[in-house]
Amino acid sequence: MALLTVHTFPDPVLKQKALPVDEFDEKLSELAENMLETMYEERGIGLAAVQVAVLKQMVVVDLKSGEEDTSLREPRIFVNPRIVERSGETISEEGCLSVTEFRAEVKRSESIKLEYQDLQGNPQTLEADGLLSICIQHELDHLQGILFIDHLPLLKQKMVKKRLAKLAREAA
Ligand code: NI
Repeated sequence: MALLTVHTFPDPVLKQKALPVDEFDEKLSELAENMLETMYEERGIGLAAVQVAVLKQMVVVDLKSGEEDTSLREPRIFVNPRIVERSGETISEEGCLSVTEFRAEVKRSESIKLEYQDLQGNPQTLEADGLLSICIQHELDHLQGILFIDHLPLLKQKMVKKRLAKLAREAA
């Protein structure tokens, strides 16, 4: 296993769109394992392949990522995920491993139905609500080159992006 580099705003790779996965091979499993390991290391609950500069439609999620007891972990891997149904509305504060030191409230669908493939390429479905639903919607945005800050009202978005870009320049 290897830890991967999580790219952060304003890295242009985060605006790229991921491509569908068509080879369900050892390489894909290895990428999923490395993404999970990286997510645990960074204490995130979700990570999309785009964030580690791999333009594949794959995300990993684990709401139990922060548990000290690693036996409680619930890793989930979604390949070629697609939201096929949405209902309700919910607003909650989000953060992102690619947008450090900033959190903001974002409006999402409350419940979703997801179609995806597992690492063997088998079609699967999942119905999710609560934090799992929010997390999945956030991660799927990454596959379209969208960050949670892109959901902010335009004026606020401009201010936040300017500030984050300045912080990134100073840190470089
Ligand atoms: Ni994110």
